[in-house]
Amino acid sequence: MAERLRLGVLASGRGSNLQAIIDRCADGRLSAQVAVVISNVADAFALERARRAGLPAEFVDRKAFASREDFDRAILARLQERGVGLIVLAGYLRIMTRVLVDPFAGRILNIHPSLLPAFGGRGLHGLRVHQAVLDYGAKISGLTVHFVELETDAGPIILQHAVEVEDDDTADSLSDRILAFEHSKYSEAIQLFAEGRLRIEGRRVRVRPKAEPADET
Ligand code: GRF
Repeated sequence: MAERLRLGVLASGRGSNLQAIIDRCADGRLSAQVAVVISNVADAFALERARRAGLPAEFVDRKAFASREDFDRAILARLQERGVGLIVLAGYLRIMTRVLVDPFAGRILNIHPSLLPAFGGRGLHGLRVHQAVLDYGAKISGLTVHFVELETDAGPIILQHAVEVEDDDTADSLSDRILAFEHSKYSEAIQLFAEGRLRIEGRRVRVRPKAEPADET
């Protein structure tokens, strides 16, 4: 059997998306394996989740490096050591530099909890995204899984899922409802990548149909 796609997950927080990925790799819904989890936050719960699952968990301290580029070089080295084929950003709150983005061009995914390009970009993360949706009075929000480029939240979109905003929503309730979909949709996108079915054409991502099993007659 071909080796499973090796994921390098970068996370800064609680890691519920990471957990969903770990669970789906374990039960076979996702044909991939988490090769390493890296965080820029020493006590990120994502690292604890990785340890509990018996996966390599590494903290890389931004303060130990003179520049953002040096920090990214350290992360790149760790990803390469583990033979990572796809970087998965799961609540990773650092902007990546070319040092990391260029060698992994077309092989970095992110999930954002709104329908991009609405309510995305620098500074819009976590509950701020959902509060901005409510403040604007939008009736529909959702999630976006996209390829990562240098500009924040701006790479080609792989999939989106819409979620209705309800009249009595708070940022927390909207976040919770969207997060439940993130957990399945992120893995869906990773699975498409693992099956080699995504093709980037300019800003558009084409999803090839699943190959039919070979006819043996
Ligand atoms: C998610 O809402 C994700 O869309 C965003 O950051 C949050 C991370 O949550 N990029 P978790 O750490 O995976 O629970």
